[in-house]
Amino acid sequence: MGWKTLDEMEMNGKTVLVRVDINVPVEDGRVTDATRIERIVPTVTDILAKGGKPVLLAHFDRPKGKVVPEMSLRVTLPVLEAALGRSVEFVERPSRADLDALPQNTVVLVENTRFAPGEEKNDPAIADFLASLGDIYVNDAFSAAHRAHASTEGVAHRLPSCAGRLMAEELGALEAALGKPQRPVAAVVGGAKVSTKLDLLGNLVGKVDYLVIGGGMANTFLAAQGIDVGKSLAEHDMTGTAVEIMAKAQAAGCRIVLPVDVVVAREFKAGAANETVPANACPADAMILDAGPATVAQIEQVFATCRTLIWNGPLGAFEIPPFDAATNAAAAMAAALTKAGKLISVAGGGDTVAALNVAGAADDFTYISTAGGAFLEWMEGKTLPGVAALG
Ligand code: 3PG
Repeated sequence: MGWKTLDEMEMNGKTVLVRVDINVPVEDGRVTDATRIERIVPTVTDILAKGGKPVLLAHFDRPKGKVVPEMSLRVTLPVLEAALGRSVEFVERPSRADLDALPQNTVVLVENTRFAPGEEKNDPAIADFLASLGDIYVNDAFSAAHRAHASTEGVAHRLPSCAGRLMAEELGALEAALGKPQRPVAAVVGGAKVSTKLDLLGNLVGKVDYLVIGGGMANTFLAAQGIDVGKSLAEHDMTGTAVEIMAKAQAAGCRIVLPVDVVVAREFKAGAANETVPANACPADAMILDAGPATVAQIEQVFATCRTLIWNGPLGAFEIPPFDAATNAAAAMAAALTKAGKLISVAGGGDTVAALNVAGAADDFTYISTAGGAFLEWMEGKTLPGVAALG
């Protein structure tokens, strides 16, 4: 870990650029989940306490280098102010002179960095401009660290830089889960497609002791074993890859855990009539929508023998009950083991946190990452440019 933390930086009287990720879900002009905003509060308050003037840089959505009024960061302002318990100065077009004119204990939020065409291209001119606005750069946006953009990467090379509290926390938790974990380690990887998680599975089989595969992906693995999965979501063109992953796992001493029983239905809708059958007995006109109770029992056994768990992706079609049952049961088990001090559990990535929240298990996990794509790339073993630039 070659990066510095806030503790090592002298900030008194300085203007501190802070890259945050407050790319939060919004519906009808209102923020529907403030988690990412709440999680940056320690960094901002610590910078203020050290006498620095925090100038927050952030993106919102994907305006692709144009000013798109519906993608203004203004929508986050009331929630940010509530989370910080103070007013925040919103600046559309920042200049160093304007920032200098603000009192030292002001918190500034700059308009969407992605309105500038050069931001996503990591244009040196944009990185130079951003660097001209401050004296120190703090990156607190782990969830955007997989992007090599001017505000996440370029500017870090131009100013004394460090990781914010949330960034440091995320990196510490992930290192504990996969870098130097307490063994045995289990990974749960779910979701629809093997093709989107190939690198992830390939990296994990070399690192974990148990790899639990769920969701549509598991169907592809069942099909790769010659099992007829009926009308289930499966990538039949990926069965060769699934076989390779299984061989790699075997060579590395990683046990792949696949469903032994499955919940099948004829319709993809909440409350659809369903039955539980052995994994090799899916009727030709039915589809697998969840793992069955025997599979859950098998997963629970794995969790009980492990010290560390890393979780990405649901085990079934968790958005349409009752096909959330396996995800809920396994999540509850992981939460209980964690609470009892027997397991270190880390989860992250897209749907995962939503699924664990629905299961009521998220609060008892050791760590819930704020990251979606960045969490996946980290699990894939890739270097995140936003983190590397701090080194
Ligand atoms: C995210 O929501 O995962 C991050 O904010 C990154 O957003 P992006 O995928 O638009 O780069």
